[in-house]
Amino acid sequence: MSKKKYEAGKKYEETATKYDARYSSIQQQKFREVFSQTKIKSSDLLLDVGAGTGLLLDFLPSNVQNIISCDLSFNMLLEGKNKLKNALFVCADSEHLPFRESCLNIVTCFSVIQNLQEPTITVSESFRVLKIGGKLLLTVLDKIYCDKKLEEIIVQAGYEIEKLWHLSIEDFSVIAKKD
Ligand SMILES: C[S@@+](CC[C@H](N)C(=O)[O-])C[C@H]1O[C@@H](n2cnc3c(N)ncnc32)[C@H](O)[C@@H]1O
Repeated sequence: MSKKKYEAGKKYEETATKYDARYSSIQQQKFREVFSQTKIKSSDLLLDVGAGTGLLLDFLPSNVQNIISCDLSFNMLLEGKNKLKNALFVCADSEHLPFRESCLNIVTCFSVIQNLQEPTITVSESFRVLKIGGKLLLTVLDKIYCDKKLEEIIVQAGYEIEKLWHLSIEDFSVIAKKD
């Protein structure tokens, strides 16, 4: 494991119990804005990459039942286990997703790739595991990314961009399709 990845993981391991109090309302705002631009079906299999404490589980409607929360930090996932939803929790690296190709309908990735040394690997992995017609919903901090850089990474992975825009707070967001 690279030093940067180890350090990032360690930071979240140590702050997991405080994450929700600090970030819940801002992340919920991002979820609201992104999901207002696309539809998900109750039958969709959704993978949340870098899911952290599973804040997305609190947001998604209760009829969305097939959710996998995946994160490198075990302690962040443990916080998620306290949430009510019936999700699967998988401790794994976003650069090596432990799923076969073309098996998922939606991949979400909120506020994760700005911490990654090689974000293209994670975005390509998301492409690999999505079915044809599946969608990636991703946000990234605008302090670290500009829209052009985000566009480049998404297109390079093979996606067709449906919408790329700036949220009302701190992140660029993209909805992209695997055609
Ligand atoms: C800012 S938090 C965002 C959490 C969640 N997506 C949200 O919206 O609240 C970033 C998360 O990415 C995870 N992460 C960082 N590098 C990762 C990697 N290589 N693989 C999987 N998860 C990673 C961290 O452990 C942390 O939980």
